Amino acid sequence: MADRPHFSGPPLASPRLAVEATAAGGGRAAAAHSPSRHGWMSSRAISRAFVAFFEERGHHRVASSPLVPINDPTVLLTTAGMQQMTPYFLGLESPPAIRMCSVQKCFRTVDIEEVGDESHNTFFFMLGNFSVGDYFKSESLRWSWEFLTQTMGLPEDRLFPTIHPDDEESLRVWRDEIGVPAQRVVGLSDNWWGPVGDSGPNGPDSEIYFDLGPGFDDGSGTGVGDNPRYLEVWNNVFMQFLQSPDGGRTPLPKQHVDTGMGLERLAMVMQGARSLYDTDLYQPIIQRAAELTGHTYGANPEIDRALRIIADHTRGGTFLISDGVLPGNEGRGYVLRRILRRAIRAGRRAGIDRPFLAEMATIVIDAFGEDYPNLVQRRRQIDRVLTHEEESFGRTLNDGIGRFQILAEGLRERDETVVPGAEVFRLYDTFGFPYDLTVELAREQGFTVDEPGFIQAMEAQRTASRAGGMFKDVARSRADLYVQLAAGRATDFLGYDPERTSVTATVLGMASPVGTVEVAEAGQAIELILDRTPFYAESGGQVGDTGEVRTEDGVVRIDETVRPAADITVHRGVVTEGFIRTGDEALATIDADRRQAIRRNHTATHLLHRALRVVLGEETHQAGSLVAPDRLRFDFTSVEGVHPEQVRRVADIANTQVIADTVVETDVTSYDDAVARGAMALFGEKYGDVVRMVGVGDFSRELCGGTHVSRTGEIGPIVITSEASVASGVRRIEALTGSAALARIAEQQQLVDGLARDLRATRDTLPESVSALRDRTRELEREITRLRGELAGSQVDTLLDQAEPIGSTGARLVATRLVTAEKAGLRQIGDRLRDRLGSGVVILGTVIDGTPSLLAMVTTDLVANGVRAGDIIRQAVPLMDGRGGGRPDLAEAGGRNAAGLDDAIGAARAAAIAMGADRG
Ligand code: ALA
Repeated sequence: MADRPHFSGPPLASPRLAVEATAAGGGRAAAAHSPSRHGWMSSRAISRAFVAFFEERGHHRVASSPLVPINDPTVLLTTAGMQQMTPYFLGLESPPAIRMCSVQKCFRTVDIEEVGDESHNTFFFMLGNFSVGDYFKSESLRWSWEFLTQTMGLPEDRLFPTIHPDDEESLRVWRDEIGVPAQRVVGLSDNWWGPVGDSGPNGPDSEIYFDLGPGFDDGSGTGVGDNPRYLEVWNNVFMQFLQSPDGGRTPLPKQHVDTGMGLERLAMVMQGARSLYDTDLYQPIIQRAAELTGHTYGANPEIDRALRIIADHTRGGTFLISDGVLPGNEGRGYVLRRILRRAIRAGRRAGIDRPFLAEMATIVIDAFGEDYPNLVQRRRQIDRVLTHEEESFGRTLNDGIGRFQILAEGLRERDETVVPGAEVFRLYDTFGFPYDLTVELAREQGFTVDEPGFIQAMEAQRTASRAGGMFKDVARSRADLYVQLAAGRATDFLGYDPERTSVTATVLGMASPVGTVEVAEAGQAIELILDRTPFYAESGGQVGDTGEVRTEDGVVRIDETVRPAADITVHRGVVTEGFIRTGDEALATIDADRRQAIRRNHTATHLLHRALRVVLGEETHQAGSLVAPDRLRFDFTSVEGVHPEQVRRVADIANTQVIADTVVETDVTSYDDAVARGAMALFGEKYGDVVRMVGVGDFSRELCGGTHVSRTGEIGPIVITSEASVASGVRRIEALTGSAALARIAEQQQLVDGLARDLRATRDTLPESVSALRDRTRELEREITRLRGELAGSQVDTLLDQAEPIGSTGARLVATRLVTAEKAGLRQIGDRLRDRLGSGVVILGTVIDGTPSLLAMVTTDLVANGVRAGDIIRQAVPLMDGRGGGRPDLAEAGGRNAAGLDDAIGAARAAAIAMGADRG
């Protein structure tokens, strides 16, 4: 390029960097190409040069965010430098600076399967510069070009900018400001980036490719964007749009820049390396792994593949653990477990026959610890997690491969090629053998796997395996086991103090549904016994707490807390991450919001209990209760029914205590003292000599072991939602407190307002409108009855005109089908017809809601002559699939076959005529 663009920023980063880099470059692989004027440069020197370059141009360096995104549960792992910029791009938060740069740790799972070749990885470092509503395309692209060609010293003719075909502004910058000939700027329709997840900022991008040279050409005749000869090194994204979850795009209020350059790729270029893995970012790991295998890297493609997998996965795994991820069966934990297991398998394939992950991690920590100090801080934990995972997977693997072999032989004998889903699930569930490994083994031996069957088996299991369910039958019968695990000590319950929602404790013992265990892994259902706990065990109607128990190596989600043996609290749940061991130090934390809701409901129960006695008399007793976070239920004895007015008074009395914000106090005292002070003891309950008494001022005193609010004002409104009888002499009140009560009140207001709107009334006039509406309805009903009568009258006239004679005595017959809205209408018309006929038979049929009915009436003179309505009907009903009968003068029938009604009427008519002719 002849014209050098003019830059407003300070001059280039000093060439000193290149010199320093060259000096540091020991132990490098042989160069595959040597593009840079500055020669070999270490990856550390590259990233320092990058940061210095942008700092000199007014950028504030921000630290890499952790691999576990902060405050963003929608994204599994951090995949780009811009993720921490999202709130700034959306204008939700203000940034520390409008120009920023970073070296961001990233983890992308899309290519896990591809890792092992020369160009794919999962974990990498992304160099990025960002503008929040400040500079845009021109500065950004010019700086990218300057950094690559000047600071990195890359030849301009080996760099190829690409743009989105519609992005004329970027084309103009490349062509007119930077001076790249227009024919070298390639338009690629894929050049669009974002959003991360299903919504967020996104926009067109301009990607810069580097030509690695003819040695990298795949011979396909393709060019930039398709051919591996051209390596994308840097992506400039111009954030202009906000995408909503439904896919719609709206322009952002401001335009931003997000760029990302893979350090591994730039290092490959700057170090003339043949692959990502031949850079100093991987070589120390690869070399050590190669030593362990006894092979040389670069001699055997299969071994190289394994070594690259080990290098990528142990590097990424080490960083993941340092950011708090632990191996597990879901989400991030599963990503970690999967890469570690793949690394272990690769190690075995390459001939490593002893544990090696922890050793690889040491190399990763030594190589990156200076820039990422939490690698060093967590060294001990990284070591423990890797060692444990490797030991346990080693066992699983030996076991699982053996079992798969047996399975495979069976299939072969039966000439089958598909491994049944249920078998794959058995390997997974019973023996912990990972699904993807089964798929891999199957593929290696020419089988396919029934994936839908596997998923189905897994789902069936999931529903059946809530921790509670798995322990239900065993817990009661093993009180002795818990006593033994707790070494006979009572669990120290610290949860009466509302501040103690989290407590450090020691794991005294653990039990699976089968028996005692020393270690439990992610996915396992487990019961834990701690020396002390904030978890309240279900008792006295109050439900047990939920929460989590976290150790340095694992997390257990606690779904239930119970006390199957006296004074020993059993925490029941599932290990969700890592593993947990007897003897571990743990942090036991309850779900504090849930507990607070339970406290509110428990104290409210006491207030309602007392209020019921005030209103209904002291002979009323508690007969049971349920105190849950979302509701409370109180059963009490009462021989008589309870009037709604009494229920209202109970609520008023209880709420008066709430408004008074009475102090709630607990006293541990002797049973006799408590009773002397008026404490209500539960009928039929056994108490020890020392009891806990919960008092709400002077209003209520009860013997109770539950957890309560400190002052009644915390309860919020108490709303009684129902009062009804549940058994003879026992009635039940259900109530809500706190925000659930507020929600109920709001809901009722909405209901009333909605009704008022519909009736064009106000809240005050609503009762009046409803009663007016009721009067009007009655009036209309009367009117309808009258009109129906009139209508029937006119129908009767018409029908009489059509009456036919039967026999010779002047008797007449009407047999027809009518359209009526109800069966009563049939009868009404029938009565009138009969009366007007004087002597005769009436046969009427109708269909109402798809069901046929038939009616026969015979005047008394004909009945005397032996014409029977019941006989007429009986002859007809089979035709409409029905049953029925009746008196000689009046018979009715219903049926199931409406299509047969006309035939039934015909048959009835014929029967009537026959009887009339005979006897008339
Ligand atoms: N966020 C852009 C990327 O990841 C820079 O490619």
